[in-house]
Amino acid sequence: MLLDETIKTVMYKDIPQEKALWHAIKEVLGLKLQEVEELLQNCTLSDAVVMQDVMDHIFSSKGKRLRPILLLLSGSFKPVDPVHEKNLVTAAAAVELIHMASLIHDDIIDESQKRRGKPSVNALWGNRAAVLAGDFLFARAFELLACCRNYELNMIVTRAISTMCEGEIEQTRFAFDLSLNEQQYLQNIYRKTAALMEACCAAGACLGGLEGEAVLQLEAFGRNLGLAFQITDDILDITGEPLITGKPVGNDLREGVITLPLIHLLEDPVYAPFLREIIEKRDFSPLTMEFLRQPSCINVPVKRALDKARLYIKTARECLAGFTETREGAILESLAEYVLQRRV
Ligand code: IPE
Ligand code: IPE
Ligand code: MG
Ligand code: MG
Repeated sequence: MLLDETIKTVMYKDIPQEKALWHAIKEVLGLKLQEVEELLQNCTLSDAVVMQDVMDHIFSSKGKRLRPILLLLSGSFKPVDPVHEKNLVTAAAAVELIHMASLIHDDIIDESQKRRGKPSVNALWGNRAAVLAGDFLFARAFELLACCRNYELNMIVTRAISTMCEGEIEQTRFAFDLSLNEQQYLQNIYRKTAALMEACCAAGACLGGLEGEAVLQLEAFGRNLGLAFQITDDILDITGEPLITGKPVGNDLREGVITLPLIHLLEDPVYAPFLREIIEKRDFSPLTMEFLRQPSCINVPVKRALDKARLYIKTARECLAGFTETREGAILESLAEYVLQRRV
């Protein structure tokens, strides 16, 4: 049994709201998501043997497909002509390719050996092949975007990519910098994660025939959702269950990425000196990680970080005013709640 399946089993079995959410997504978007899946497979075919091997590997464990889901839902509020209908699916596949490319490159940058429960591309093929596989996916995404012949869509999506690169490079600039403050942290996570989700919602809204304030509302929804999403990702990096997240635990600290729970822990009079020493000595042994995961150490910082995520989710939900009457809008709202509860 693939670990991917195990992850789903745990998710579906344990949290009834989550089960209902993925069921509703399947009901509303099932056919379109299937088309996205087919397009993803077809547009990543390669007759270069190693490239195809890498593609087979990354498709062997599926992610949540959150970005295509956001794009498709944001594009569903008005009836559109068949051309725009097709473009929505094409753009949804493009944003997932961009996400996949960014994960492959991110795992090189973070020296991460695991992704979606399997060895990362860099772990199996090395950094050289992983850089090229990421570039390949970006290029195939641009091909899909070009097929849409939509200037606005191109601008929205490509701008998000350059912002993501700025986020990753800024994060590297602040590595092991204990003076990183919340404001700088938030700017980094906006760039590396929220900008793409914001773009997915804006792109969907534009392709779906919305204009003006309505586009801005959905764009702001995506931005706030994305900020909360990265905060919960950063919490899961400390408290998550690797068998469920499919990613190693403690990788942020090992790479010197000072995340929100760690910023808060650095303010704790009892635990801050320990954390400082851990970071200064680069002591990232399993024992250290266990120490950090102890409830007495991490509960308060995690709670504070979760409170911050909750605020972004509250704002995200407010951005949906006027949209939640429809089934699609209600799903966007449920997705916002899911981000706070997610374990993967
Ligand atoms: C992981 O994103 C990278 C972050 C922005 C935290 P996801 O958690 O959406 O990854 P998959 O696609 O579901 O694996
Ligand atoms: C998000 O940051 C990376 C991207 C936006 C590509 P992380 O480094 O925390 O993501 P994970 O935890 O590796 O998925
Ligand atoms: Mg990473
Ligand atoms: Mg992470």
